[in-house]
Amino acid sequence: MSELNLILIGPPGAGKGTQADRLRDDFRLPFISTGEMLRANVKDGTELGLQAKRHMDSGGLVPDELIVAMVADRLHQGDAQDGFILDGFPRTTGQADALARQLRDQGRRITAALLIDVPDAEVVRRISGRRVCVKAGHNYHVDFDPPKTEGICDQDGSRLIQRDDDRPDVVQNRLDTYHAKTAPLIDYYDEQGLLRRIDGTRSPAEVHDHIRAVIATLRLEDDV
Ligand code: AP5
Repeated sequence: MSELNLILIGPPGAGKGTQADRLRDDFRLPFISTGEMLRANVKDGTELGLQAKRHMDSGGLVPDELIVAMVADRLHQGDAQDGFILDGFPRTTGQADALARQLRDQGRRITAALLIDVPDAEVVRRISGRRVCVKAGHNYHVDFDPPKTEGICDQDGSRLIQRDDDRPDVVQNRLDTYHAKTAPLIDYYDEQGLLRRIDGTRSPAEVHDHIRAVIATLRLEDDV
């Protein structure tokens, strides 16, 4: 069958990173998160990280030209040649057009855009309780998805902290940015017949099952 090139869309706190951790174990596809890539650049103090940090800390978007170049490099790497799952990219129609152009130039295309749908009030509840590990960014929630030992990552034993952009004032800006800049991608991909909706209000395990079922259906459709 042909490659699976998937996009995950959803508001901040929808559970994209949580599902990424689960899907990584299911499929032999690289999971490419622009948020994770940017945080790694900030941590390493690169030029890109320095430029990105102020946008991230305010809840705005990093400029398209920086992000598009970063993702284009990543998609050219060997492990992304047989398919990929993109998380947090594209986030604007400009980024979506750039991605479509890049893939077309390589004779490739998007297979589907998976929307993890969660209302704003739930986003705020989730983000206020989110904790991430300092080593690899594994996600937890103090109430909904707690670690086995408080404050310690189950997967790598590192310390759990709150992200800088999870402060309440920044969260509201991130939500506003999502509705203004990213939500138009829902119609963008729907009009191309590529959108698949996932109810993100269910438990992490149920959301995971739904995504796996959608991906299995895409594979079957592709085999027909
Ligand atoms: P990014 O890291 O992509 O942040 P985001 O999209 O705001 O998403 P989050 O990481 O906050 O949430 P998530 O959906 O992964 O939810 P999670 O699984 O953690 O981007 C950060 C910043 O980088 C952006 O603001 C922007 O500045 C910049 N950036 C990134 N990409 C860019 C781009 N393409 N263009 C320009 N700028 C870009 O879950 C949240 C919490 O809920 C967790 O505690 C989790 O345990 C809990 N939870 C998850 N699922 C469930 C569930 N089903 N039920 C109950 N609780 C749940």
